[in-house]
Amino acid sequence: MSQPLLKVTQLAKSFSGVWALSDANLRVGAGEIHALLGENGAGKSTLLKALAGAQPQTHGEIWFNGETLKPDDSPVERQNKGIITIYQEFNLLPNMTVAENMFLGREPRRHNLIVDAKAVNNEAQVILDYLQLNIAPTTAVARLSVAQQQMVEIARALTLNARLIIMDEPSAALSDSEVESLHRVVRELKGRGVSIIYVTHRLHEVFQLCDRFTVFQDGRYTGSGDVAGTNVEEIIRLMVGRNVVFNRRDASLTHHQDKPIRLSIKGLSREKPPLDPHGIALKDVSFHVHAGEVLGIAGLVGAGRTEIARCLFGADKFTSGSFELDGKPYQPRDPMHALDQGIALVPEDRKKEGAVLGLSIRDNMSLSSLSSLLTWRYFVSPHKEDALIAAYRQALQIKMVNPEQEVRKLSGGNQQKVILARCMALNPRVLIVDEPTRGIDVGTKSEVHQVLFDMASQGVAVIVISSDLPEILAVSDRIITLSEGHITGELHGDEANEERLMTMMAINHSALNAA
Ligand SMILES: Nc1ncnc2c1ncn2[C@@H]1O[C@H](COP(=O)(O)OP(=O)(O)OP(=O)(O)O)[C@@H](O)[C@H]1O
Ligand SMILES: [Mg+2]
Repeated sequence: MSQPLLKVTQLAKSFSGVWALSDANLRVGAGEIHALLGENGAGKSTLLKALAGAQPQTHGEIWFNGETLKPDDSPVERQNKGIITIYQEFNLLPNMTVAENMFLGREPRRHNLIVDAKAVNNEAQVILDYLQLNIAPTTAVARLSVAQQQMVEIARALTLNARLIIMDEPSAALSDSEVESLHRVVRELKGRGVSIIYVTHRLHEVFQLCDRFTVFQDGRYTGSGDVAGTNVEEIIRLMVGRNVVFNRRDASLTHHQDKPIRLSIKGLSREKPPLDPHGIALKDVSFHVHAGEVLGIAGLVGAGRTEIARCLFGADKFTSGSFELDGKPYQPRDPMHALDQGIALVPEDRKKEGAVLGLSIRDNMSLSSLSSLLTWRYFVSPHKEDALIAAYRQALQIKMVNPEQEVRKLSGGNQQKVILARCMALNPRVLIVDEPTRGIDVGTKSEVHQVLFDMASQGVAVIVISSDLPEILAVSDRIITLSEGHITGELHGDEANEERLMTMMAINHSALNAA
């Protein structure tokens, strides 16, 4: 490579004596899409925050576009130099329009005074058209999907004359078709000579999209190279220092039909909520799950998977249908009541609904705080609590300094592990996990699966919702597929494969009925 655009050398960052990064190196060329990879807690987000001016490094050097950057630059100073960061928690203002957000603070004005709304909308439209985004500049951001909001952030970066756009797990919350349009836009940016740093745990994206890659392990640089000259195995070795195998659950060994039915759902239906632009209707959904069984629910985004989970958990209302739990009628009034009946949900949007980020890991996982949610009380000895936290820390490889640490100070993936552990510690009768390994690194995925198997072997009925078909196939004893709010099929784990699932997930129910 000739002179790179960005050169990071021996960057280190400590948080009160704990080194999040100790020896990070990174070189990114102009017009290059660079994958930044590593396990949960490897230090990726920490490096990105140092680049963005959000959190200065403790030592080491950042050289960008011909100059060494001052460690105490503010985010605005970095932005003016052309470094734009798109975090997973977006920074858009929901009640303002797309165009207003794109030009916030830099609006074209008439006579330098009055904001020229027409010019703002016109300029925004030019960029939205260029990116082939079908979004009107006058739409309020609150009405957009997560994927569209992300596109608006990218459009905003273009109005800022970005030279380097940093994306921290941009595809984590997107469906496959949304990921495709994200990739298309990222390639457009590259075509303009913009460089991209792209963080992801979905390793196949590296091969679809990226030119070069760099891997960190435990805050240290472990390798980099051309994507064309590597393979998944090598990248995983650089990430975790060992080979990773995925165990598929042996569905032939598990005869759940003999076990009692733990939960059954009959005729669950609901209308599309009028006030929610992304709401989904459910139409006559019926299925059951046995004690000790892992039931997978597969479907495209928008098929209604999360909606079923939320109805079961008492978080959403439904128009008709009934549930039975261990043979008795179960009518969830609200999530508290659902928990009290032994139904636990690990939600899809964990930042919003899951962990109490300001509390310690101990307070999130402790039996006393959990039992106060419930009417069945535990006798809690501190010893038992320590043992429980230690067990989950080990089983899920939660990277923490100690259980007193605040959850917000953990890396994204480790926060998710705490939420998983919290729900498992409730010892529920039914455990519903929605996208259980989203944001979790490739090395820990199989550990999460193992913990789900352990729950099932203790008799818990486990329902797994996942967009990751290999994951659904690896964990499920039985799989049901959902399309447009209808159940479209059921397969035993043994007979399922990606192709059959995809076909069943794509069945268009309304067209079938019309025919
Ligand atoms: N504000 C903070 N205070 C203390 N420790 C922190 C803070 N922010 C991050 N850390 C620690 O720094 C380490 C690296 O975290 P970082 O968020 O950079 O990881 P990551 O590679 O982005 O992981 P993930 O893939 O899970 O997002 C973690 O062990 C984390 O606990
Ligand atoms: Mg991160």
